[in-house]
Amino acid sequence: MKILKISLYLFLLLNLVSLILGLDKTEAIGDLTAIKDTMKWTKLQDCRKTFSSTIDAVKKLDEKIKVHPDIFNGSNEYDRFLLEVMHIKFIWLLEEASYLLSRCTALDYDGYGFSLEREFRLYFFFMEWETTIEWMRDSIESENYAYLYKDIKVSNQLTPPSNKSITKPLFQFRDCQQDYCPEMVVIPKGSFLMGGNEVEEQEYQIPYLQATWESPRHAVYMKKPFAMSSKEVTLSAYREFVKETNYSMPQGCTTLKTEPGHGTQQFFNREKNFQNCDFIQDPQEPVLCVRTEDAREYAKWLSKKTNQNYRLPSETEWEYCARAGTNTTFFWGNNRDEACLYANVNDLTTKSIANYTFSYFNCSDKAVYTSKVGSYKPNAFKMYDMTGNAREWVSDCWHPNYQGAPKNSSVWGRENEGLCHFGILRGGAWAYNIIHMRISYRNAYLSSQTRCNMWGFRLVREI
Ligand SMILES: *[C@@H]1O[C@H](CO)[C@@H](O)[C@H](O)[C@H]1NC(C)=O
Ligand SMILES: *[C@@H]1O[C@H](CO)[C@@H](O)[C@H](O)[C@H]1NC(C)=O
Ligand SMILES: *[C@@H]1O[C@H](CO)[C@@H](O)[C@H](O)[C@H]1NC(C)=O
Ligand SMILES: *[C@@H]1O[C@H](CO)[C@@H](O)[C@H](O)[C@H]1NC(C)=O
Ligand SMILES: *[C@@H]1O[C@H](CO)[C@@H](O)[C@H](O)[C@H]1NC(C)=O
Ligand SMILES: *[C@@H]1O[C@H](CO)[C@@H](O)[C@H](O)[C@H]1NC(C)=O
Ligand SMILES: *[C@@H]1O[C@H](CO)[C@@H](O)[C@H](O)[C@H]1NC(C)=O
Repeated sequence: MKILKISLYLFLLLNLVSLILGLDKTEAIGDLTAIKDTMKWTKLQDCRKTFSSTIDAVKKLDEKIKVHPDIFNGSNEYDRFLLEVMHIKFIWLLEEASYLLSRCTALDYDGYGFSLEREFRLYFFFMEWETTIEWMRDSIESENYAYLYKDIKVSNQLTPPSNKSITKPLFQFRDCQQDYCPEMVVIPKGSFLMGGNEVEEQEYQIPYLQATWESPRHAVYMKKPFAMSSKEVTLSAYREFVKETNYSMPQGCTTLKTEPGHGTQQFFNREKNFQNCDFIQDPQEPVLCVRTEDAREYAKWLSKKTNQNYRLPSETEWEYCARAGTNTTFFWGNNRDEACLYANVNDLTTKSIANYTFSYFNCSDKAVYTSKVGSYKPNAFKMYDMTGNAREWVSDCWHPNYQGAPKNSSVWGRENEGLCHFGILRGGAWAYNIIHMRISYRNAYLSSQTRCNMWGFRLVREI
């Protein structure tokens, strides 16, 4: 009798506690597992059903987070994780999944060729997001929220340039002496024609859809100078960031595999990550397997280390720096046989070992996979690897053509139906087809969580 009474009190007490404390960890983990279980792509015919069940499961948990009382007002790591990380990620996931759901049965649905909507990309959407859900679950289970605290120490070896020198075109500087401070180049103001052109499209037989992404060709005016890193962010520099902040990312990265009869294909490899991207990298090679958000977090960290404003380039800044005053297919001209002097491309070296079925350049750049940043000749703005080595993230929202694009250095945002979760990549990579090494080439992937061992980034710094 007495025991019964005690257990009744205990039961009531526990209920009261859960009402005050909100969503407990066990329930959150259970709901995350339920979301993960919906993330199983079967076939295109089930597209609506699959996206709907994911959306429903995410909404269910997100509703609980929204009413979760923030009693410690952010002093409790788990509360902060729910509100500052999970809730924000769920907003993204709901927006992305709702957009893709609306496309499942769209009359102009395009699942062929190089389309962004081809089925394997939808399949990857679920695999990529699934690892993010697992990462949330692991964070809660292991109570590892260390990266929420970014108590970042300013570099003790700052060397910012003087105000006078920073206005000199092509002036090179570094904001600190440590290896993680990249070499920056002052890019002069000027103008250029952005986008592809018909001569190039015909010569390279660019598929219609891709040609629309690059058009119309239009004039862009860069009204003031800025600084761009001359090289891609290295693995070594990225490791410093992870070491200092305990930054953690979901497991998995898209890699390549070749199967007889199917050619070389992208493959989401759950074992891979930036430290282990499917081939051995020198620390001075570009960091790969990072999402746009990881690149942005890195830029925030570097900004704090240097007291400066580092960020991803806008798409106009990127193309202006890549062209560096040229209007040719590549920054070195129109001759594809010269590629190996200027870029780490898919070439005879890559062919001899990796043997991908993509089209390749008839020259030898001596690198099978990535190479140390800055190993080839720079362009007229002293920029290295703008084409080849790692493909690079920029910060704009995705628009499938340049109708209404900014005519200046600004980021193109949500206006003109911009899709802001789907990051844009510029500059071909070490394994790409020849047509995708052209400066004009651009595309995006329909998942914010996408990453690949062909993609990295470089940075702009405000001056
Ligand atoms: C919680 O923090 C916010 C801002 O950080 C503050 O405005 C608010 O008064 C705090 N609430 C409580 C209950 O401490
Ligand atoms: C990172 O993690 C290590 C080991 O878990 C811990 O000692 C360190 O304090 C953490 N750093 C930060 C910034 O949280
Ligand atoms: C350099 O310029 C910045 C902002 O433009 C200004 O705050 C700073 O005082 C200047 N430094 C010197 C040494 O003139
Ligand atoms: C590039 O510029 C040159 C010189 O102004 C011009 O003759 C040529 O037609 C331009 N090429 C393209 C593709 O715009
Ligand atoms: C590359 O693969 C093709 C089949 O796809 C094969 O015929 C060829 O011998 C391979 N080359 C090398 C160098 O392994
Ligand atoms: C590749 O280049 C070599 C000479 O550098 C040439 O003999 C050969 O015909 C070229 N192959 C192709 C497919 O263009
Ligand atoms: C670029 O142009 C847009 C539209 O005219 C304007 O709103 C924006 O402020 C400009 N950005 C810069 C950096 O000049």
